[in-house]
Amino acid sequence: MDHATEVELAKELLALKAEKSAYLDDVVSTRPITDYLDAERFRREQERIFRAVPQPILHASELHEPGSFVVREFAGLPVLFTRDADGVAHAFLNVCRHRGSRLVAEASGCKRRFSCPYHAWTYNNQGALVGVPHEKQGFPDLDRDAMSLRRLGCAERYGFIWAWADGEASPDIDASLAGLAPDLAQLDAVSHTVLHTEVQVRQVNWKLLVEGGIEAYHFRVAHRDTIAPYFNDNLSTYRSFGPHMRSILSKRTMNNLGEMPEAEWRLRDHAQVLYTVFPSNSFLVQADHIAWIQQEAISADSTRVRLSTLVPAARVESDADLAHWSRNHEITVTTLNEDFEIGEGIQAGLDSGANTHLTFGRFEGALDVFNAAVDAHLGPA
Ligand code: FES
Ligand SMILES: [Fe+2]
Repeated sequence: MDHATEVELAKELLALKAEKSAYLDDVVSTRPITDYLDAERFRREQERIFRAVPQPILHASELHEPGSFVVREFAGLPVLFTRDADGVAHAFLNVCRHRGSRLVAEASGCKRRFSCPYHAWTYNNQGALVGVPHEKQGFPDLDRDAMSLRRLGCAERYGFIWAWADGEASPDIDASLAGLAPDLAQLDAVSHTVLHTEVQVRQVNWKLLVEGGIEAYHFRVAHRDTIAPYFNDNLSTYRSFGPHMRSILSKRTMNNLGEMPEAEWRLRDHAQVLYTVFPSNSFLVQADHIAWIQQEAISADSTRVRLSTLVPAARVESDADLAHWSRNHEITVTTLNEDFEIGEGIQAGLDSGANTHLTFGRFEGALDVFNAAVDAHLGPA
């Protein structure tokens, strides 16, 4: 975000504060509860969203050196990420081409070759089949090229390894980001490292979790014991970039910005700047670090949440810095747990009969915009 935009957004929020108004969309909107419950709809979300949209899966520091590998689930698929001797990142289905065994069981490590635990077909970290025991006898006409690991689209951009399940080609991340690319570049995540990660599986639809991050209406109530005292009540604004979103949730310190020269205004010091990279990655930009929230949909009513604290790689040496980051990670986890517990509570009551629809007020318009992007990707049933 350029500085002029930071100033414009800060002024917008200061004006709303002066008018004692929230940022208002035109109308109250609703979503049917079946959007969050229906298994058939989830199947379409998996196919038309999670498998069709490139998504950041790893931070580059998680696949740091040539020879490193990481195993992850992505869009419901078992995936092996590798970095080859030239430093190029790859994504493959973690499935042996012989009789389909899982190829790699470890979560991560450093290896140039992967030998299948069933009959030892062996692949290199560029996916090529390089070893088949008793090949001449058993598989006299084996076309090794045709039996290399199934490749997924993979690209390294803005400090992240992005995967794409819809093809083998490298996805065009800038095109996919639809105007959000300069903001992501400016985060300079490439100079960061993942210091802490927490993984949880929550019994909640992934959309309820995304929705929980893009409004400030709940702060004063749901986060009263944690972050609420630092924030203005129900004061936020947002912009859309294609299906992606930048939300600005203002802190109380923003109210004194007028005393400071505009040239020194830095939005991330006085607001929670939240990027929602469609469909389900959230980057919560704090004054000196980034909390990365990956919401990996497992089923209509369960989601794996991965919370990573990204910190400048130059600031992981001193005990004081390390203590500072772990304190911040704890605050993020504690606060988000408040959101996740509310999300699970919503999910548990969805088909109770209390509601046929969930209702979004005019200051919760971002939720309707997000759901419209989901609908646009799903197309007709
Ligand atoms: S299934 Fe992998 S070597 Fe047989
Ligand atoms: Fe929250």
